[in-house]
Amino acid sequence: MEKNTFLHVRHISKTFPSVKALDNIEFVVKAGEVHALIGENGAGKSTLIKILAGVYEPDLGAEIEIEGSRIEKLNPITSVRHGISIIFQDFSLFPNLTVAENIAMGGALESGSAVVKWNQMREVAKKAVSKLGVDISVDVRLGTLSIAKQQLVAIARSLASQAKLIIMDEPTSALSKGEVELLFKIIRGLQADGIAVVFVSHKLEELFEVCETFTVLRDGKYIGTYPAAEMDNTKLISLMVGRNVEFERLSGKNIGETILEVKNLTKAGNFKDISFELHKGEILGITGLVGAGRTEVVQALFGLNKPDSGEIILNGAKVNINSPEEAVKLGLAFVPESRQTEGLVLRQSMRDNIVLPILSTLTKRSGLIDHGALGDEADKWIKEINVVPAVPDMLAGQFSGGNQQRIVIGKWLATHPKLLIIDEPTNGIDVGAKSEIHRLLRSLADQGMGIIMISSELPEVLALSDRILVMRRGRINGEFEGATADSESVMNKAFLADNKVG
Ligand SMILES: Nc1ncnc2c1ncn2[C@@H]1O[C@H](COP(=O)(O)OP(=O)(O)OP(=O)(O)O)[C@@H](O)[C@H]1O
Ligand SMILES: [Mg+2]
Repeated sequence: MEKNTFLHVRHISKTFPSVKALDNIEFVVKAGEVHALIGENGAGKSTLIKILAGVYEPDLGAEIEIEGSRIEKLNPITSVRHGISIIFQDFSLFPNLTVAENIAMGGALESGSAVVKWNQMREVAKKAVSKLGVDISVDVRLGTLSIAKQQLVAIARSLASQAKLIIMDEPTSALSKGEVELLFKIIRGLQADGIAVVFVSHKLEELFEVCETFTVLRDGKYIGTYPAAEMDNTKLISLMVGRNVEFERLSGKNIGETILEVKNLTKAGNFKDISFELHKGEILGITGLVGAGRTEVVQALFGLNKPDSGEIILNGAKVNINSPEEAVKLGLAFVPESRQTEGLVLRQSMRDNIVLPILSTLTKRSGLIDHGALGDEADKWIKEINVVPAVPDMLAGQFSGGNQQRIVIGKWLATHPKLLIIDEPTNGIDVGAKSEIHRLLRSLADQGMGIIMISSELPEVLALSDRILVMRRGRINGEFEGATADSESVMNKAFLADNKVG
């Protein structure tokens, strides 16, 4: 059955002072379809979404049609009235308000009534939550809920606003596997109710699981719209990137002395009996299913999660790391997984963000900041991590999501750590640029850094690790030499109990 067109936009362009983010885009969304919007970092996906949300005004000449009627102009209120609802990566919810207030406030304010009808609001919220089939009380403060539940609240808010099109910008980046499954179940339910979903993600396997249509943007231009049935990974990637991408195996050249020894590290409910070594020049990959305890272990190394027992030995001396500040003093750096929201001052320039942690080392004896040295250091990392556009004065908030992630990586590298811990290094980075990050990590290791890399992406783990630890349910369930490991054996250790451990 042919579906009706819900949204049709044409000739959408958006010029920022430094870049033409969108150039004559066309985009069609049918009622009730799940539609993937894909493209490399900076391709213009978020900008297009913000135009549909009425947050950005497009350049002259834009044509917007919703359910067959021409719309002159969208602003954040009319966009919602026309049935468009956006779930931004930070959800734009209010952590101090209750779930009910978050869901129903928009509607209550829009009704224009001076009196907020609290009971009515609660009812609206309850109805929206129950429609999702999840168990969330509408009376708790939003901030007390997990990220996954907050996201469900954002979806409930869209339902309460009678959305006909829900756009989700990278909705799965902070979700575990089980939570992603629940989100997909809910998306299929929305689809059955005739609600269209536009989904932005860099995780292509996920897109193939739920999306029936793909629209590809490249460098702000519209490449095309394709049915999922005619697409596969390779085709999509070559449309997005303009070439094929495969990870090259990058082995360590100069693996030296032991810099870190972890002995029987244990924390009840988190991880148990974790022992391993890390050498100079080595990349140690830690993989396993989300929730296996990988992040908790590295947080313990960085002073963010105090272990109950066990030893951490750094350069031969036993250390007690009680805070990230102490960890940094010892030469450690930790790039967290959800780095877009953690760690950047969006209203400051990229340059200032990168040098923030090293300001004290770049202060002259007079007490003044050595701006020359500061600029040089920032420029070096901007080039190394290939931020686009490479404009040091641009505000961090003006970069695309993936480029913000690169800036956070640069900020930590500028501290010149001896031991770098990086959680999901290519999360939010487009497929074409992943190998760039791989080459950078390998070259840092070859220059003497020890690197612990957590990754759920097996091809990445196999391409980059000198040694691989596989965690399962808080324990190390397998250890492999990176050069000879194969994906099947690693997967087995991630999924299946080891005979010895039981
Ligand atoms: N407010 C702004 N001011 C200046 N430039 C901007 C602004 N917002 C976005 N841009 C630029 O527009 C281009 C497109 O960015 P956009 O955020 O739409 O990319 P994206 O496709 O969402 O990428 P990602 O996958 O990295 O999130 C980028 O070059 C970005 O730096
Ligand atoms: Mg984006």
